[in-house]
Amino acid sequence: MKEKILVTGGTGYIGSHTTVELLNAGYEVIIVDNLSNSNLEVINGIKRITGIHVAFEKIDCICLNGLEKVLKKHSEIKGIIHFAAKKAVGESVQKPLFYYKNNLISLINILELMPKYKVEGIVFSSSCTVYGQPKHLPVDENTPIQPALSPYGNTKQINEEIICDNITAGASYKSIILRYFNPIGAHRSAEIGELSNRIPRNLVPFIIQTAMGIRNEISVFGNDYNTLDGSCVRDYIHVVDLAKAHVISMERVLNNKSNSRLEYFNLGTGKGTSVLEMINTFEKTIGIKVPYKIAERRKGDIEQIWANPLRANKILGWNAKETIEEALKSAWKWQLKQKHF
Ligand code: NAD
Ligand code: WQD
Repeated sequence: MKEKILVTGGTGYIGSHTTVELLNAGYEVIIVDNLSNSNLEVINGIKRITGIHVAFEKIDCICLNGLEKVLKKHSEIKGIIHFAAKKAVGESVQKPLFYYKNNLISLINILELMPKYKVEGIVFSSSCTVYGQPKHLPVDENTPIQPALSPYGNTKQINEEIICDNITAGASYKSIILRYFNPIGAHRSAEIGELSNRIPRNLVPFIIQTAMGIRNEISVFGNDYNTLDGSCVRDYIHVVDLAKAHVISMERVLNNKSNSRLEYFNLGTGKGTSVLEMINTFEKTIGIKVPYKIAERRKGDIEQIWANPLRANKILGWNAKETIEEALKSAWKWQLKQKHF
């Protein structure tokens, strides 16, 4: 058995897939989650995939005492992967204080406890949202950060700064900040995936629910952008590829493979896909038509962004391997298994 890793937000979408990859790599995992956007059935899904019943603590990361109890109880935790956060951009505009409290206090609590419990490293979930609409594409890690477009985006920028300032001030731990592009798909077993309890805001869940007949049609938000077909372009990455990058990052932090105490990596495929291309690819791959209409541009949308993932490719030895077709197939298989939408 390798080291113990605490995964906050581990019953969530990316956290659950990462937990599976950590367990597959031999790590012992303790999940902390307040279940505000996930449920305990995920623990059963992880067990069906790995055969391991992972330790779970229902704790809100904004509660310092609760977190400290977990660190005491599961002694010798070596690393933390911090996924726990609220992530709905629109909701963050409606409830900024809630987002700042949840996403900032959670990280501050964790960083405060790490030295006391000798936790050696933290891998943090950031987002390509920090780049805003970049002037040059693709974006590498030196692309300038732009003023945030939402309170949610701002929490990611501030969290990055909090980690950086603490490491600069001589904190005892190391960190890797991972900037995700657009995660899609599910585990191939369809035992875990992305929960969509509400009307989805993200493209792929909406396409899938439209194909299932749960939604009548999908609105394509704008076809007059300066892109090949006029619709917005993103870098969609399979969630399992993303999950694997966390295991490599954690290993790098714990095994002192870098001289630097803080590193940033883009996690994307390096390829842009437009909204219309995504709908077409879904129709071809799954064989079901997706009714769509062209609608107004969505406020705050970025026209186009995709990653230059070379740093992660070279330094982490990580590459996105799965295709968009595979991601769509896995997301479709997962959604077919869900009883409620
Ligand atoms: P998710 O909502 O599925 O998972 C987050 C988990 O954290 C949920 O299970 C939720 O219950 C839990 N949580 C939230 N606040 C908590 C708190 N205060 N204490 C304990 N648990 C709490 O989201 P996800 O898509 O898996 O995202 C994981 C991380 O990656 C987040 O930090 C998110 O901002 C970041 N991220 C996500 C995307 C994306 O498109 N999904 C893109 C970039 C970055
Ligand atoms: C993708 C494209 C839409 C729905 C958001 C957050 C970002 C990040 C990931 C965490 C866009 C278009 C969508 C629909 C559409 N999360 N679209 N019709 O906007 O890149 O990013 O999630 O950090 O912070 O902002 O992803 O999936 O919402 O949209 O036309 O019904 O699909 O306009 O161009 P986005 P998305």
